[in-house]
Amino acid sequence: MDKFMVKGPCRLSGRIEINGAKNAVLPIMAASLLTRGKSTIDNVPNLRDVKTMNELLRMLGAEVMFENRSLTIDTRNIKNYEAPYDLVRTMRASIYVLGPLVAAYGRARVSLPGGCAWGPRPIDLHLHALEKLGARLKLEEGYIHASADKLKGAEIVFSTSSVGATAQAIMAAVLARGVTTLKNSAVEPEVTELARCLIEAGANIEGVGTSVIRIEGVDRVEPFHHRVIPDRIEAGTFAAAALATGGEIELAGCDPAHMDAVFEALRACGGVIEVSGDTVRVSGPEKLEALHVVTHEYPGFPTDMQAQMIAVLARARGTSTVTDTIYPDRFTHVPELRRLGASIRLDGNIAVVKGVNRLGGAPVMATDIRASSALIIAAMAAEGTTEISRVYHIDRGYERIEERLRRLGAEIERIS
Ligand code: EPU
Repeated sequence: MDKFMVKGPCRLSGRIEINGAKNAVLPIMAASLLTRGKSTIDNVPNLRDVKTMNELLRMLGAEVMFENRSLTIDTRNIKNYEAPYDLVRTMRASIYVLGPLVAAYGRARVSLPGGCAWGPRPIDLHLHALEKLGARLKLEEGYIHASADKLKGAEIVFSTSSVGATAQAIMAAVLARGVTTLKNSAVEPEVTELARCLIEAGANIEGVGTSVIRIEGVDRVEPFHHRVIPDRIEAGTFAAAALATGGEIELAGCDPAHMDAVFEALRACGGVIEVSGDTVRVSGPEKLEALHVVTHEYPGFPTDMQAQMIAVLARARGTSTVTDTIYPDRFTHVPELRRLGASIRLDGNIAVVKGVNRLGGAPVMATDIRASSALIIAAMAAEGTTEISRVYHIDRGYERIEERLRRLGAEIERIS
């Protein structure tokens, strides 16, 4: 298993290109199953999660080619309808094939994802939506068996705004007979992007980007050619790293319109953020200021930036609080950050971060994608060497992060 050795402190400086968004590309890849033919997706990041989804699509019978950030998925020979446990447990987003398979092929067998490192992460809303659309569901031996002759439009009111369940319902409803209305839909840019891609493919979807989405089923959607939006979480992570190291970097090719809440938080703790088109200049202050941040659904502060924000605030002047309202248990990075000298107390879903003057290197363990990037941020701000184990988590969501950070001046090595 690979490790990272990070020698700090460093001050990041330079320019970094932001890649396509992981959480936008994964549902779009699954949506290719709604079509029969060859779809192309551009600006695809070379991530472990993308490779896992490729593997799953190949198991289903798709022909997949991935070259130069361009992914082609040929779905003319789908002959298997099962997402096995071994894949689903390594990547929950595998569940995205459920809706498209049952909508396009009338059947699917998808492993239940099980728990995740930081909490239960249920999929009840996905299943509720599919049942409302007329799918018959059975849970057997850890698998969801779904079948339907033809899905039927329905009104679905989500009790909680869910990115995954909204995407799942959109994908299933585009081929259903009649009209589907989704209420309390997620409005995250990645969901909007999926809907846009499906509209280009011939789906009839209104209300995109709002919490009420109306879908009129069509007989077929055509293979598509779509370019993925920039990853707002990747951009936010590098911006946070610039602040934590008192550096100055330029994020190139991002979409600042998706980043208001993150920029507001980074400015509030002393960062200077200058936006010019799709380029953003971020510089960190001499001394960071404490802050109170609460995660919310989009356009609020994203839970996927919560860990990185705690890493930034670990050295701020005063006491900060970071509250996660989306995932109350998503704090596995906290004990690891404490090993680097951070003073963080957990009070339910609130991390109370008392800024310290100095962090120091120590061996730590990555536990999930964002927790790992928080550890790298803290390690770059810490004095001495930090050994981060289990970095496969970070490879799921950040492409060659060590090479890109090295180009910005970090001392970080991957040890295989
Ligand atoms: N929820 C339910 N039932 C469900 C689904 C969700 O109760 O059936 C709850 C969750 O427990 C949570 C809330 O709804 O409290 C929101 O979860 P959501 O469904 O929106 O999350 P997700 O679709 O499973 C995606 C991202 C996550 C990101 C969340 C929140 C992908 C592949 N994953 O997950 O990204 O944290 O939305 O924005 O898009 C990451 O990239 O590191 C990551 C974890």
